[in-house]
Amino acid sequence: MAKALIVYATRTGETEKIGNLIAEGIRFSGHEAELLKVTDIKKGEDLKGYDAVILGSPTYHGEMVQGMKTLLFMAEKAELEGKVGGAFGSFGWSGEAPDRIFETMKNIFKMNMVSIPLRLKSANLGGGMKMAQDYGREISEKL
Ligand SMILES: Cc1cc2nc3c(=O)[nH]c(=O)nc-3n(C[C@H](O)[C@H](O)[C@H](O)COP(=O)(O)O)c2cc1C
Repeated sequence: MAKALIVYATRTGETEKIGNLIAEGIRFSGHEAELLKVTDIKKGEDLKGYDAVILGSPTYHGEMVQGMKTLLFMAEKAELEGKVGGAFGSFGWSGEAPDRIFETMKNIFKMNMVSIPLRLKSANLGGGMKMAQDYGREISEKL
């Protein structure tokens, strides 16, 4: 059984809901999934010891939230190369954050990324719940 870590930032709870559903999808596939807030990560080493790391942030003013930016700098020291990765986030209209996180994980950390970032307005709208669970399943297929 492989172990995945999902770390999210959120202001009003939408990105947390998506993170929970991704964790469900990973667990349905028979793997372990731990869900932590971005503020629970104090140093790069906290991201070590997992087979997959999935990071989520909403988009505010065209950007990911500051806590996730800080985490990405810490993650440089987490030896994530080759590990399975994914990125997600809730958004209102432009949704840049998941793409920026995904590109950093791919190009800087050299992670083994799933096909695309998951961008959802809400876990409760337009099949969002299934899309988030399926993202967890897609991650599991690479484990
Ligand atoms: C002040 C403010 C600025 C926002 N800026 C953006 C933005 O630039 N692009 C976008 O797609 N959504 C934007 N949003 C919408 C949020 O991303 C959206 O409400 C999202 O669901 C919040 O996720 P959270 O509950 O995880 O914090 C903004 C919302 C607020 C209140």
